[in-house]
Amino acid sequence: QPRILSGMQPTSDSLHIGNYLGALVNWVKLQDEFDAYYFVADLHALTVPTDPEVLRRRTRVTAAQFIAGGVDPERSAVFCQSHVTEHAELGWVMNCLTGFGEASRMTQFKDKTAKGQNANVGLFTYPMLMAADILMYDAAYVPVGEDQRQHLEITRDLAERFNTRFGEALVVPEPYIVKESAKVMDLQEPTAKMSKTTSSPKGLIDLMEDPAKIAKNIRSAVTDTDTEVRYDVENKPGVSNLLVIHSVLSGTPVQQVADSFAGKGYGDLKKEVADVVVTAIEPFQKRMTELLDDEAELDRILASGAERAREVAQATMARVRDRVGLLPAA
Ligand code: TYM
Repeated sequence: QPRILSGMQPTSDSLHIGNYLGALVNWVKLQDEFDAYYFVADLHALTVPTDPEVLRRRTRVTAAQFIAGGVDPERSAVFCQSHVTEHAELGWVMNCLTGFGEASRMTQFKDKTAKGQNANVGLFTYPMLMAADILMYDAAYVPVGEDQRQHLEITRDLAERFNTRFGEALVVPEPYIVKESAKVMDLQEPTAKMSKTTSSPKGLIDLMEDPAKIAKNIRSAVTDTDTEVRYDVENKPGVSNLLVIHSVLSGTPVQQVADSFAGKGYGDLKKEVADVVVTAIEPFQKRMTELLDDEAELDRILASGAERAREVAQATMARVRDRVGLLPAA
């Protein structure tokens, strides 16, 4: 079975619906067809200074959200990045293959430093660690949202560079990005992506939020001065965003959702989207409570996921060490 891999950073106590629709929904779908590896990118999260106790909590909460969202840990390996130490090791090899200028051109680093964030070197080398995450598992596809596209491109470049320099050893991965849902927008600012770091609380739909509050956020979503419900991302970003959220959660093509609102207004749309979201979120939250109630079981899942991941990672690292000319340890 071909492999796929993806990860999320434990940088908040709740995933938002952008993480869910842009990535997690596809993780769940793809686990049927692929040998899947899904991890909490706790090493990446260290690029943002966080209280250790908070990081530990968020790491568990993030893993639990994968499972509550439908990832089956019996089929897919669910693990913490830091538990498979080969990630950091391959990350170093990737750093040594990357040009300084090339890394400087990565937009995430440029955006964050432009906003005055006090950047550390970890943030600078973030994409190379991410390349290591992916290349470690010979992943054929990487299901992510649109904002990760550039990271996938540098990963492909690094894989090809490695193969050219040292002989075919790494699989060049393809991004798996579903066009419509790959960029869920901020409810208050529908031309900007929904983001845990830049969105205001009213612009977000957090999966762990009180359903009444979620419904309220949806009812006060920014739309436009027109009245027609129509899927038109260019001219009607707010309305289109709501239609996409509805479409993915209700499993109905977006055009069909739009057509069902013919002759109706934005109030009707918002009400129905709120209903669809709340209906989807209730079982998710219930499952979260169960998962978080049994921390030992969650840790056991993470340990067994890491064990599975380590098997693949050790084989890849043995190959990589040999290719680049590092002596075997024994
Ligand atoms: P992160 O933690 O920021 O986001 C997790 C996933 O959610 C997607 N996403 C969105 N999709 C649609 N609309 C949005 N508004 C939205 N916001 C976020 C992201 O695209 C992502 O798929 N660098 C990664 C973590 C990572 C990783 C990896 C991913 C580390 N190593 C290897 C894949 C493979 C990140 O920060 O995602």
